Amino acid sequence: MSDSNDLLAAATAVRNHAYAPHSGYQVGAAVRAANGKTYVGCNIENDTYGLTLCAERAAIAAMVSDGQTEVTEVVVVTEDAGSPCGLCRQTLVQFSQDPASVTVTCAGINGTKQVFVLDELLPHAFRLAKIGSL
Ligand code: THU
Repeated sequence: MSDSNDLLAAATAVRNHAYAPHSGYQVGAAVRAANGKTYVGCNIENDTYGLTLCAERAAIAAMVSDGQTEVTEVVVVTEDAGSPCGLCRQTLVQFSQDPASVTVTCAGINGTKQVFVLDELLPHAFRLAKIGSL
C-alpha cells in the first residue's frame, strides 16, 4: 500500500469546502489515479435533496474530467470516519480494474481511521460485461 498521508491532507483540506447547508455533515474525498495524480471533491447539497453530490463522486468526476479512468486509492474524511454510500461504492468500482487492491481509508477528523479495500465494501459489484471487453 502506498503512503496515503498526502491523500489524507488533501481530503481534509477540501472538506472545508463542503456545501452542506441541509445536513451539516461535511465530507472531503481524495483519490489517486493510475497516473499518480490526486483529485479531490467535497459534498455539494441541493434544496432538491436528491440532487446532492457526494464527495467521492465529485472527486471521481474531477479525475475523469482530467482524462484519468482508473482509481488506485481513496481517502474520505468526515467527522466520524463514515464509509462511502452505495452509489459512491458502485462509482468507485466503475473506475477500478482490481477492486481488491484499491485501499479506501475512512478517516475521522479526530484521527480515527478505518481501512478497507474496495472489494470488501462492494462485493459482487455489478459490471456490464460488454463494457469490460471493449
Ligand atoms: N455524503 C457523501 O459525501 N459521501 C457519502 O458517501 C455519504 C454521504 C454526503 C451527502 C450529504 O451531503 C451528506 O453526506 C449527508 O448524507
